[in-house]
Amino acid sequence: MKRVFTGITELYTPKERLEQAAFAVQDGRFVWVGAASNLPSEYRSWPRTDLGGRGVVPGLVDAHTHLVYGGDRLGEYLQRARGESYEDILAAGGGIYATVQATHATSEDELYEQARARAHLFLAQGVTTLEIKSGYGLLPEAELKMLRVIRRLGETLPQRVFPTLLAHVIPKGWARGEYLEMFCQELIPEVARTGLAGAVDVFCDQGAFTLGEARKILEAALSHGLKIKLHAEQIAHTGATRLAAELGALSADHLEQSTPEDWQALAQRGTIGTVLPGAAVILRKPFPNVRAMWDAGVRVAIATDHNPGSSPLFSPWLGMQLAISLGRLSAEEALIAHTENAALALGRADLGRVEVGAVADFVVLDSRRALEGLYRWGHCPLWGVFVGGVNNPA
Ligand code: NIG
Ligand code: FE
Repeated sequence: MKRVFTGITELYTPKERLEQAAFAVQDGRFVWVGAASNLPSEYRSWPRTDLGGRGVVPGLVDAHTHLVYGGDRLGEYLQRARGESYEDILAAGGGIYATVQATHATSEDELYEQARARAHLFLAQGVTTLEIKSGYGLLPEAELKMLRVIRRLGETLPQRVFPTLLAHVIPKGWARGEYLEMFCQELIPEVARTGLAGAVDVFCDQGAFTLGEARKILEAALSHGLKIKLHAEQIAHTGATRLAAELGALSADHLEQSTPEDWQALAQRGTIGTVLPGAAVILRKPFPNVRAMWDAGVRVAIATDHNPGSSPLFSPWLGMQLAISLGRLSAEEALIAHTENAALALGRADLGRVEVGAVADFVVLDSRRALEGLYRWGHCPLWGVFVGGVNNPA
């Protein structure tokens, strides 16, 4: 497939801003990007799509989601809105445990259908790449069931899907040591053998896994050739961010309670710091100091953390807007954080950017201005969402 795209008034690559731009796509990748007036003659005879003077940004990358789950937690949301805490609800056996029960009670086909519908809502908003975690199964067979759903999503959705095995909480009725042994000795090897996940994540926090337990799980993952990530410093400060940096994790995510020492560790190791504005704001936690993190040299990513509990957020645009208003990023930085930096949190330097060699995933705004979607709150006017150079009508 060969095609040239012209008629782009404003293009964010995202680091550079080009005016009156054009690009050429061959076999799903950008082969030329630049000012339309410089389009080399060899591309002039290619089939052409005129984007009508609209603005273009890279396809958005959502590098932290829990898109597969049964049931919902509206009741808990209302309880929290009245002032009950997420931590107390979890400690009382609700929260994540409620979703575990609902996920167990939902068939594999139904989980797939529900997650597919959610993924389409994300696609319609320009999300061309999704990381999706397991973690509401807990028991080995139920975790594998979730990962099979995620694999099927990857095979059938237009989007690129990155599956992650998540050690979320200890299931009721299991001794901690027993669960840890099962997770490290059985589940991780099985997932590595079958290729059902490319990475392992641990919820290292109060009410979930300790720092020592997280280290064991992540070391087991590394020994099986899997990449690693961490849910770090969301509720309590545990040292998980520094563990992520020490072990060379792709990312440390949440960071509501993180410190300047944590940011230094991330910056030095090149581990991405992923902030999740939905979870911070919806749980009424301190908003991570994104400005200071960025200035400390951390490569910051933004993700929705979509899940039925802490972040029933469907809008990457709102996540970026919160990072601008409460985290004090510039709009241009927020876009970088939800595109190329988010792709790095998945270990990919060829996603989330419009440049030669990158995959041709891009979003066409229904506006001449490429950053219109960050300006309008609650309504993002998109004209097209292209994956591998192909438009996906929503
Ligand atoms: O990223 N913090 C832990 N895990 C998820 C929330 C899961 C849930 O509440 O169901 C998160 O916020
Ligand atoms: Fe999460």
